[in-house]
Formats: sequence, structure tokens, C-alpha cells
Amino acid sequence: MSQLKATAIARANIALAKYWGKSDVPLNLPAVPSISLTLEPMRTETTVTFDSALTDDQVMLNGEVATGKARTRALKVLDHVRAIAKIDHKARVESANNFPTASGLASSASGFAALVAATWSATGMERDNEVWSAMARQASASAARSIYGGFVELPKGKPGDAKLAARRVAGPDHWDVRIVVAVANEGAKDVGSTEGMTLSEQTSPYYRPWVDCSDALAEEVRQGILARDLSKVGEAMEQSTLAMHACMMASRPGLLYWQPATLAALGTVKRLRKEGVEVYATMDAGPHVKALCHAKDAERVAKALADSPMVLRTLTAHPGADLEVQK
Ligand code: PMV
Repeated sequence: MSQLKATAIARANIALAKYWGKSDVPLNLPAVPSISLTLEPMRTETTVTFDSALTDDQVMLNGEVATGKARTRALKVLDHVRAIAKIDHKARVESANNFPTASGLASSASGFAALVAATWSATGMERDNEVWSAMARQASASAARSIYGGFVELPKGKPGDAKLAARRVAGPDHWDVRIVVAVANEGAKDVGSTEGMTLSEQTSPYYRPWVDCSDALAEEVRQGILARDLSKVGEAMEQSTLAMHACMMASRPGLLYWQPATLAALGTVKRLRKEGVEVYATMDAGPHVKALCHAKDAERVAKALADSPMVLRTLTAHPGADLEVQK
């Protein structure tokens, strides 16, 4: 019996300039550029073992056997890497998040980044961030960004550009900011991102205007990060998330991800700003509010958000490192 094995650790990320919409569905290319912050300590650790004794692939997520879509998406990554490495052993995948799945932080980003890196490394092939990022992007576009630590951009893709990958804007030590997550509910989201994006593109009158304003907003976020200018990043970040949600809401049927806790947390962020705290909010395809602030203000922001009506609890993250591989 022969075994080939590797473990990868990837961090979740939160988009400061949002991705919503695809320019090429089969290749999963984004129609807009996005910029994210990689988050510590929200990690996925994934071990992949190619084992000649296995008769079928085994996928375990957080200690449970993965079935349905989750299994199909993981097998696609295994098959892709097997074809490149020219091996046909079946594999065992063991993946676990150290942050709760319903914490409002997408586990698909860190999950697919870690899966691609562990699968690739288990075959014995050398690390290649660009190839990994492009491969992770095909599984979930936000996963392309979790290959790198710190501040990361994924450009928009021209149809057919199979190699599109994310790249670093600035490393994790560039800027000591925090993301405070206000958890709004415990349930899983009811409309997934791919389904939601397709619906927005096909039915929302605000889809085109959203795509049209996205380049300038991402550029503003990028400039703000490089200049460590929190209000510049924050203002563009809030407009990016609100423009994305306006586009989602105007779909048919409407995609309304917000809950009462979302508005309460947004109100808290606004009030804190009036009190002189530099803090800005962003939301993804879910009700949770993620607040960006300076490290020195994180405790005050977390307390105010935790005290907001209907907010369940908060989690605080700081800039995280590049994906790591252990053999
Ligand atoms: O990568 P996906 O398919 O999970 O889509 C992510 C979409 C948003 O989280 C709403 C925005 C983003 O850029 O992460």
C-alpha cells in the first residue's frame, strides 16, 4: 500500500470591495474586481491522503461524512489535481474549521483554498500560489483570495481566462486593523451565492449599474489600503456592500439577506462614528455585520455591537498570514 499525504491551513477572508456576478459561469470568473482581508484566527485545516487501499474517495467535513453538493464540489478539485499529477489513487479528505460554520464568515473560501493546496501538495508537486489561486477560484471565487495573507485582490475576469488568480495588495503586517463580526443568527443562508448571482444578473435592474460602479470602488479601497486611510477604505467599502445589496434586493424574487439585527448593528456603527470612532460596516450574502476599525478601538466596537438589539455575539479577527502547508 502506498500513501501520499499533506495538510494545509487557510484563513477565511472578508471582502472589503465585493464580488457579486460572473462573467463566465463554467470557469467561475467574476464580473467585478474584489479586494479582501485575510482573517486570523478563522482557519480551515485540511488533510488529504491519496491511498492505494481506498476504493472510493472519502470526504469528511468537521468530523462528518460530506454528501451532496459539498462532496461533489470537493471531488471536482480532487479530479482536477489527479489529472494534472497523473495519479489515479482515491483520496481521504479530512477538513475542519476552527470557527463556527454559522458565524457569518464564509467557510467555502478557506475550505477550498486549503483543499486545493493539500491535494496538490499530497501528490508531491511544488507549491504554486498562482495555480492554486486559479484552481480555488473555479470552486468558489472568494477562495482564490485565501491563498494569500493580508490584503488581497481578485481582478475581474475576461470570459475564457482560465488562469485568472488573486494577488497580494499588502501583507498582513502592513496595517493593524480589526474586523469585528456581529453574529445576527445561527441558521445557514437559504440562497447560495452562485444561485443568487445568477438571479441578480437575470432579473435585477440594478445589476448593470452595480457592475459599472465596481471598478472605481475597488480602486478606492486599494488606494485606501496602501495609504492606511481607514475612512477612505471604509466609505468605499460601505458603498460597495450597499450597492451589492441594492442589486440583490431588486432581484425577482428579491434577495433580502438582512434581519432586524443587521439594521441594529448598522445603527451602532453609525452611532460610534458620530462619537468619533473610525468604524465602517460590510455585509455578505447573509445577515451578519462585519465592522472594520483600528486595533485600538476593537474592544469598544465589539462591546457596542454585542449590546445591540438582537445581535447574538461578536468575534474579532486581525490580518492573517499566507496559506501554510505541512507534509
Ligand atoms: O465565492 P462565493 O461564491 O462564495 O461568493 C462570495 C460572495 C460574497 O461573499 C457576497 C462577496 C465576496 O466577495 O466575498
